Amino acid sequence: MSEGYKIIEHEHDVVVVGAGGAGLRATFGMVEKGLKTACITKVFPTRSHTVAAQGGISAALGNMGEDHWRFHMYDTIKGSDWLGDQDAIEYMCREAIPAVIELEHYGVPFSRTAEGKIYQRAFGGMTTHYGKGQAQRTCAAADVTGHAILHTLYQQALKHHAEFFVEYIALDLIMEGDECRGVLAWCLDDGSLHLFKAHVTVLATGGYGRSYFSCTSAHTVTGDGNAMVLRAGLPLQDMEFVQFHPTGIYGAGCLITEGVRGEGGYLTNSEGERFMERYAPVAKDLASRDVVSRAITIEINEGRGVGPLKDHAYLHIEHLDPAIIHERLPGISETARIFAGIDVTKEPIPILPTVHYNMGGIPTNYKAEVVTLKDGNPDSVVPGLMAIGEAACVSVHGANRLGSNSLLDLIVFGRAAAIRCTELIKPDTAQKPLASTACDQAIARFDKIRHANGSLKTADIRLSMQKTMQTNAAVFRTQSTLNEGIEAMTAINQSFNDVGVSDKSLIWNTDLVETLELSNLLSQATVTLNAAGNRHESRGGHAREDFPKRDDENWLKHTLTWLKDGKVHIDYRPVHLYTLTDEVEMIPPKERVY
Ligand code: FUM
Repeated sequence: MSEGYKIIEHEHDVVVVGAGGAGLRATFGMVEKGLKTACITKVFPTRSHTVAAQGGISAALGNMGEDHWRFHMYDTIKGSDWLGDQDAIEYMCREAIPAVIELEHYGVPFSRTAEGKIYQRAFGGMTTHYGKGQAQRTCAAADVTGHAILHTLYQQALKHHAEFFVEYIALDLIMEGDECRGVLAWCLDDGSLHLFKAHVTVLATGGYGRSYFSCTSAHTVTGDGNAMVLRAGLPLQDMEFVQFHPTGIYGAGCLITEGVRGEGGYLTNSEGERFMERYAPVAKDLASRDVVSRAITIEINEGRGVGPLKDHAYLHIEHLDPAIIHERLPGISETARIFAGIDVTKEPIPILPTVHYNMGGIPTNYKAEVVTLKDGNPDSVVPGLMAIGEAACVSVHGANRLGSNSLLDLIVFGRAAAIRCTELIKPDTAQKPLASTACDQAIARFDKIRHANGSLKTADIRLSMQKTMQTNAAVFRTQSTLNEGIEAMTAINQSFNDVGVSDKSLIWNTDLVETLELSNLLSQATVTLNAAGNRHESRGGHAREDFPKRDDENWLKHTLTWLKDGKVHIDYRPVHLYTLTDEVEMIPPKERVY
């Protein structure tokens, strides 16, 4: 089967796929402990999508007022609409403090207070005293925090002499029985195929925002790791939970950070009303993202949108001191000028909720090990496989992620993966031999797509998928919109059988790259629609008009979705309603009010 393809073999203790915040933090953490580690990435590390994160990284440092990791933990559980695993959330919120101090010591150029401490701003859903006060917990480097962190992590990786394989496209996991033995990748530069054998493969491949028409994600955000996991016969978790960021630029979809509202910005409708006061009387514009995105959508649906089509809302910062805007929000000032043609010091920014984050992904425990439901055990570890960052569903975000908990997730669980690998692997331990046929299936799939001679263009199929997701798996859903979406997606999947790849070469073949990415997106779009159609309640980012209430009796559980021969199979894992240590108590589900 592999005739015609030369495969170059590599052997490492660990192979990390992806070089965003999570991948880089994991990579140099492994190298630091003497593990021979390869980091393979489809883009140059500093072009990874972490670079686009704006507002900041959460940690209860208490630099700008009282704070405690217990408050952070409570907010994260409440923000997750109680679908988050409380052991993992305790781990993340406690580890946040040393993790951010560590970043500071690595050299992240955080903004500073007058006393020289890390500057922290308010973000949605972040409170003190269990909802009573507004916390300033989000550590910021102006509004380019992801950029600052990513570059610093890359510098650390270089300092530790990490081994990078840049512009390598991961094609498939190499599984032997239930165990992951490595990954097959395609080098764009010279067209060669590479088998990376490893004791542990760490997927740090990000979310799948590009399955939607309007999103804040880079074009590379195609969930390649998630799709490889599905093809390996393993499930994804909680894929129905897709986060819409309330403030994407109208028409362009680019992110305007929640930090804008943290610095005093606010939303208005066509009547000039600060409508968030009606939806979240206490938190107002700093309610959690699911609440704000729904509020904007309702305002528009009820005829109070702004603009000639009354189809968006306004975000104001023109009342703020221009010097503050210049110092703390320079990035979004430029983005608004380029993409909306406005001067933020003088005019409001036209905004619309846009897809921003996938709470769902590859199920893991808090040590970053991939888990699955096997022989009745919902926490059965998949040997040799880990997942971190947006690709993973730990699940610290549950049904809705709080802003600035994502950069934190990357750093804390990137580090956790490195810690776990040093417990599991003795450096340079010999690997078991791999069957000579181990790559055949992966190569056959690659070859089939490469030589596809159908009549349809990749871009056209992709557009149909994106429009379907935008319409049928939107902020508000009903059984009929979801069923319609499932039907449409079945037809779109069928149409992929008639795709044509016109460039058959192996060197920098972007036609083939995009077609492989489309195939990855299609599988994730399919399980997202099916999981959403299956969950008959509203929780966090999953708002069902036909089931408007949260239903803990029937739905306080994680959805698992498998995809085999185009058919979706669904089962469940229990939510971890217990903490990691006895230093804090489990927070029982209650009504979520902001
Ligand atoms: O609004 C923002 O700056 C985004 C932050 C996040 O998604 O965590």
